[in-house]
Formats: sequence, C-alpha cells, structure tokens
Amino acid sequence: MTPIHTRITVGVAKPLRFLHVTDSHLISADERDSERKRELARQRREAYDKHGFDCCRRGLDAAFDYARRRNEPVLHTGDLIDFVSYRNLELAREKLSSVDCFFAAGNHEFSKYVGEAQEDEAYKLDSLPLVAPAFPNDLRFAARLAGGVNLVAVDNTYGQVRHQELERFRAEIAKGYPILLLLHVPLYTRELYREQIEVRKAESASLMGCPAEHPARNDAQCPDADTLAFIDFLKGQTLVKAVLAGHLHYDWEGPLYGDVTQYVTAGSFLGRAREIEVA
Ligand SMILES: [Fe+2]
Repeated sequence: MTPIHTRITVGVAKPLRFLHVTDSHLISADERDSERKRELARQRREAYDKHGFDCCRRGLDAAFDYARRRNEPVLHTGDLIDFVSYRNLELAREKLSSVDCFFAAGNHEFSKYVGEAQEDEAYKLDSLPLVAPAFPNDLRFAARLAGGVNLVAVDNTYGQVRHQELERFRAEIAKGYPILLLLHVPLYTRELYREQIEVRKAESASLMGCPAEHPARNDAQCPDADTLAFIDFLKGQTLVKAVLAGHLHYDWEGPLYGDVTQYVTAGSFLGRAREIEVA
C-alpha cells in the first residue's frame, strides 16, 4: 500500500504525520447473525471482490500495518464496516485496538441491511447502542488535541449535522487551536458536484449542503436548517485548516472556502490511503 501524500500547513512547532484511511467496508457475518445477514455478506463480498479478493479486509490491514510501522495515528472517516453484524463489530473492535485511531462515523456504521430503508436519524438511533462500543470515540462528535492540532470529528452521516454537534463544535473553536475537521460526507462545492454528476455520472451528489440549483437528487441529503447553520458557522472559521472526508471512494482535493482545502480520500478497499504531514 502506497499512500498519496498531502502537506497541510497550520503553523505547529513540530511537524506531525497522520494516515487518513476511509471507507473500509468490512463485510463479514457468522453463525451469530441471521441467515439474511449471512446472505447479505455473500452478496456484498461478491460485489467488492471485483476490486480484488477479500479487498475490504486486506485493504484495511495494509493501511493499518503502514500506520503501525510508522507510528502514525490513523484518522478514519467512516464506513469501517459495511453493515451491522456481530462479526463486523468484533472485527472493528479488534482492528481499531491495533492502531491509534481517531474516528468519524459513516452511514454504513448504522446500516442493518444495506439499502433496506430510508436512512435517517431514527434509523441511526436503532443501531447506535449496539455499534458505539466497538469504536474508539464518540460517534456523534469527538475532539482530540495532538501536538498542537485539534482533531475534530463531526457526525454528518446522512448529510446532516444536528444542532447539538454545532454547539460542541463551537466549544472546540473557542479553545483556539488549529483544527483538522473529519467528516464522512464531503461538503458541497461546485467543482466536486460537477465531478460527481457530470464527470462520474453518479445518480446522487452524495455531498453535504447541496444548494437548490444543484440538488442532491436524494431527499435525505437536502440540508436541513441545523445543517445549514453548521455550514454557515464553519465557513466563518479561520481556525479550521482542512477538511478530511470519504464517502465518494475516490481521491479528490479542492478549495472549500478561503484558504481551506477539502481532501477526499479513496476507499481503503481499493488499497488507498492518504499520508498527511501537518507542519
Ligand atoms: Fe463508503
């Protein structure tokens, strides 16, 4: 596994290195899970295997091995598991305990059967108590100070941010440290929207905060009032130095607002990761 390299300048005294890993999509189920769940695992494995045999597990292991060898904390932006199963949660616990990982949740963390239902807050709440203990930090919101940089992970799994998370984000801004913001769903920009819809011909923009003239083409992703308030607040913050995201499964970087760049990293099931030097 050879990661792509990114340098982010925030003005810390001693440079830091992180490995951004995202969208690992572990796809296991065993006898503790239902027959329906085991069948889902078979189907999903067949779909992912076109990227290489057992690519989900192997991609994650390769990325985590890389991080361990170099003693780099992992910044994971979600979809570590493809769906909720006993075996996937057991694997999540096992893999996450083998590295120093700071984690932002993805939509698949709460998915019981992929694509079975409209995924919304109620759907998430149904899975959250079972899923949360397998992960190293709060899946709604987390912050960690590392070498003078504040790592902040905000749950935006369905393209929405709740007002509770905005309040917690405000409190982190008030601490005054430069911030690397981890999100699962990338923020809308005109360029990224064009990439998704016009270049890649995606059915849905799969971005947070799509404006009316560039609809997400998916009701769940139309930003609600709390989400718009979060985006509005974020755009005024000079302490946020970069946004790291996943969800799209391909590498992308582009200006977000002001001097802030958004980095989207490809899925680790594709053997990809991004090594970030923060200077
Ligand atoms: Fe994903």
